[in-house]
Order: sequence, then structure tokens, then C-alpha cells
Amino acid sequence: MAKVTKAVFPVAGMGTRFLPATKSIPKEIMTLVDRPLIQYAIDEARAAGIKEFIFVTSRGKSALEDYFDVSPELERTLEAKGKTSLLETLQNTNMDSGAIAYIRQHKALGLGHAVWCARRLIGEEPFAVILPDDVIAGETACLQQMVEAYDETGGCMVAAMEVPPEKASAYGLLDVKEDHGSMVSIKGMVEKPKPEDAPSNLAVIGRYILTPSVLENLHSMKTGAGGEIQLTDAIAQELTDGKDVYGYRFRGQRFDCGSKAGFLQATVAFGLARDDLRDEFSDYLTEMAALQQAAE
Ligand code: UTP
Repeated sequence: MAKVTKAVFPVAGMGTRFLPATKSIPKEIMTLVDRPLIQYAIDEARAAGIKEFIFVTSRGKSALEDYFDVSPELERTLEAKGKTSLLETLQNTNMDSGAIAYIRQHKALGLGHAVWCARRLIGEEPFAVILPDDVIAGETACLQQMVEAYDETGGCMVAAMEVPPEKASAYGLLDVKEDHGSMVSIKGMVEKPKPEDAPSNLAVIGRYILTPSVLENLHSMKTGAGGEIQLTDAIAQELTDGKDVYGYRFRGQRFDCGSKAGFLQATVAFGLARDDLRDEFSDYLTEMAALQQAAE
């Protein structure tokens, strides 16, 4: 079975939930502590053995391309000043020459359409899709867990997690055929169903391993939920065609950094996880919580 060495990062959305910031800053450049969301996504992909990084971008995303440029002046300055730790942090963001490709999605027609835009760069290989606004903290990178599972099963695989039933309608949901714990085989997927139509509360989140046939499905896909071309519909087509599709219950904590509440929660969690910030930050949070309680 072919190895997964390519990942697509669809970053062409408008990020309206973060306006006015996203008027000029791509959502993926916003930082959790001191690292942009996109850096977390790249690090996860690297840990999973990805070698080629395909960004699907749109107008106004040039800050993202600049971020991945080398910065020789900055490196020289840090070197001259003996700031070796910062220099190392900076150099860890450097990418191999030719490892990144950018392709434009001219109109925000949906996640499925964004992935389809990358079809020529993907070719005839299985590939990963990472949505950088889903940030996943954990001991083993989520995509790495999925690649290991995929090496056993083949077929399309989506990252899955249980969500509270009252929130399930905001997600793509899995209709489970067989539940094997971390791995479930599925018989259907539905994007943002009405509560009464929800097949489960096992939700798809932003990590996928897909076979090239999904790109063919996308080619003939009509608009679905929300008037967008949905990736879930193209994956569900695989089931109609008699192929296996799996959900993978990953180990780790997922933060929805595409929403303001999720972004703030991630900021707190990642801040508290840092040795250099933990004490000061947790003192501050305790103080804030006490003040809040007193005010109530
Ligand atoms: P979202 O649904 O979060 O949309 O997209 P958005 O535009 O980024 O944010 P809001 O809802 O307006 O605040 C999920 C992922 O799919 C990508 C986005 O960039 C994000 O990574 N996407 C979405 C595209 O690349 N193209 C699209 O047409 C739609």
C-alpha cells in the first residue's frame, strides 16, 4: 500500500468569525502563545511523516506564504547576539526547498472544492487533509496515529470524537457500522444534520486520510449543506461505491480554534502547558476566577 506523504491544508476560507482581525490577518497566522496555528498543523504533519505540504489559499493570505520564507537577516542577528535558543526556534520553522506548494481557490465554494483544487498536485496517491483551525494536543500527533491505523486498513479515514448531543448538529456525523474502539467502520456520513436526523454523536473533525478516488467523486459533486461542495459528501460516495470508510477515535484534546471560545480555551491550555509561563499565568487565572466569583 502506498505511504501517505502528501498533506493538503485548505486555508482559503474567509474566517468571518474572527472579523475584523481576519480583514488583514489570515486566521491560520493567529497565534496560540507564540506559534501560529499553521505551525501546529505543520509540526503534526511532519510527525506523521508528511514530506509534501500543499496549501490551498485565496486572496489576502500572503502573510501565510511569507511565514514559510527563510529569514536570513533575522537568523544572522540572533546568531550575532548569541541567542541560540531563539535561533533554533526560528530554524525549526524552515521548510525544505520545494516541500511547499500553493494553489489558489478562486471562490470559497466549500472545503470539498478546496481539496479538489489540489488534485493535480496530489496525483494518484493517498493523501492527508489537515484543517489548521482544529488544534489537537496530545502525546502522539493525531495524524501520526491515523497514518499508523491507515497502514493497517487502507480506505478513507476521518478523525472522530464524541460530542455532546446538543452540539452534534454543528458537525459532520458518522453512521457507525461496527465499533472496534479506536477504529469504527461506518455505513454513512451526514453533514450538519437536523437533531432528529443525527445518526450518532460521533463527529468528524479536521483530519482526514483520503484515497485519490475521493478527488474523482469531488469532480462530479454538487453543492450540499450550506450551499458548499462538501468533503463529507465525497467521502460518503465511497461507501455508495462499496468501499470501506473508517472513523478513528484519536487520543488527544481537540480545540476548535475557528471559534472564539475554542481559541481562548486553547490559549489557556497551551499557556499553562509552558514551563516558562505556567506559574505566572496560573496565578493570574486563579486571581481572575476569585475576582469573578466575588463579583457574582
Ligand atoms: P470554516 O467552515 O471554518 O470556514 O472552514 P472559514 O471561512 O475558515 O471560517 P468562518 O466560518 O467564516 O469563520 C473550515 C476549513 O476549510 C477551509 C477553511 O480555510 C478552513 O481551514 N475552507 C473552507 C476552504 O479552504 N475553502 C472554502 O471554500 C471553505
